[in-house]
Amino acid sequence: MVDPSLRDFERIVFFTGAGMSAESGVPTYRGAGGIWREYDYRRYACQTAFARDPDAVWEFHNFRRELVSRCHPNGGHRLIAWAEALLPRVTVVTQNIDGLHQAAGSRRVFELHGNLWRVRCASCRTSVQDEHVVRHELRCPSCGGWWRPDIVWFGDMLRSDVVMDAERAIRGCDLFVSIGTSAVVYPAAELPLLAVRGGALCVEVNPEETPASEHYQLHLRGPATAMLARLAAGIPELDAALVDP
Ligand code: OAD
Repeated sequence: MVDPSLRDFERIVFFTGAGMSAESGVPTYRGAGGIWREYDYRRYACQTAFARDPDAVWEFHNFRRELVSRCHPNGGHRLIAWAEALLPRVTVVTQNIDGLHQAAGSRRVFELHGNLWRVRCASCRTSVQDEHVVRHELRCPSCGGWWRPDIVWFGDMLRSDVVMDAERAIRGCDLFVSIGTSAVVYPAAELPLLAVRGGALCVEVNPEETPASEHYQLHLRGPATAMLARLAAGIPELDAALVDP
């Protein structure tokens, strides 16, 4: 008998965090080499810091753009894009801002924390795509306000339309796969509970245990790409989790 795999599900949600892009060379936020170990978010990633010193905040984000511009989608990103192309309904709900899911070919992507490659005016709220690796033009041509990265900083609200779309997809899924998130940042960290309550099979891909691990029926303890390849190929553990949720 063929082991159950991604192909056995109708509506799949991949819920991704920084660990998804780790194999592409994008640093995670926490743990060894984590961004917040080296850079204090209170100086670089909140509205108060931006109001105080926009140049310093932009320097940090230009540095992140340069770093991400050297990175490419990994096998895990590509496998998820492949699943979307072949299976009935695949959605990515991501906390990542690097755009690597889209670069791999994923189309149905809800970005909870915005995108590093988009800017919005802090005054008139115009929002534009901006692929320049380093942004030199920091003022909005329409109103003269400051462009800021269109990403969610500490203390910012998430976009309600994006959250609603993500919630709808998660409530209706039959397979929920969390990949590479420490599950400590809210409100994103509570979204998986919608899948649990909706009766989806919930799988956690992470080399380490997280505060949310108890909610998942199946844990794949390893790097994203290898664990996703196992899910795609079909694995006996998935069979066991299906019959004994
Ligand atoms: P974290 O840096 O908090 O957690 C990364 C997770 O990825 C950890 O649980 C690691 O064990 C796991 N991990 C590392 N390498 C992996 C690999 N190769 N494969 C799979 N998993 C791996 O990142 P997030 O949970 O995404 O928000 O952080 C959530 C939010 O906190 C971010 O979106 C960002 C940050 O502050 C904002 O900036 C608003």
